[in-house]
Amino acid sequence: MLFRQLFETETSTYSYLLGCERTRKAVLFDPVVTEVERYVALLKELNLTLVYTLESHVHADHITGSGKLRELLGSKSVVHRDGGAQCADLMVTDGVFLQVGDLEFEVRHTPGHTQGCVSYVMADRVFTGDALLIDGCGRTDFQQGDAGQLYDSITQQLFTLPPDTLVYPGHDYQGHTVSTIAQEKAKNARLGGGKKRGEFIQIMQELQLAYPKYIDRALPANQSCGNIEVQG
Ligand SMILES: [Fe+2]
Repeated sequence: MLFRQLFETETSTYSYLLGCERTRKAVLFDPVVTEVERYVALLKELNLTLVYTLESHVHADHITGSGKLRELLGSKSVVHRDGGAQCADLMVTDGVFLQVGDLEFEVRHTPGHTQGCVSYVMADRVFTGDALLIDGCGRTDFQQGDAGQLYDSITQQLFTLPPDTLVYPGHDYQGHTVSTIAQEKAKNARLGGGKKRGEFIQIMQELQLAYPKYIDRALPANQSCGNIEVQG
């Protein structure tokens, strides 16, 4: 398997490129529109064909590159059916399996940051989007966020994975690149160490985060797969 963790500095977003060495087919998790040229060059360099762009959710902080990549390379965009992006080519729900060459992914619905959040589980790793972050989690104060629901998603859908499963998040603001389920279960500041649901909800309520910088631009654009023109 070919694997690249790609970082977009403006919004501290991680995108991930995975390629099957046998078939040269690839997927890209959470592409950012401003990085599309970089992805295209990397795919070419690695001699890969992009099959899917896999969204962990409809983002509020950056514009997805899925529409642009579809235009340029013919890749299909995958989003959860409750994500609110009717422009997607493939709407998935909990328990769906995706196969691309020898790469296999199980879709797990992990709502709470948004209603349409999913994590993509592989045999040795999980891409958690903005549900579980390293030593943190996605915010729950906008986009139908719900702290109780996020607690249930993380504890029931992610903390139940094998302890050595690698955790690759959708963002990191402190320079972390990868963690494990065991480490997050033990140490995550918001819900590690066996924190109860009520404690977690209280922590989330008291965060008092600033209004997201790009939400008014990013949300409508992402609901149309990054097609900025439709915003008017
Ligand atoms: Fe998000």
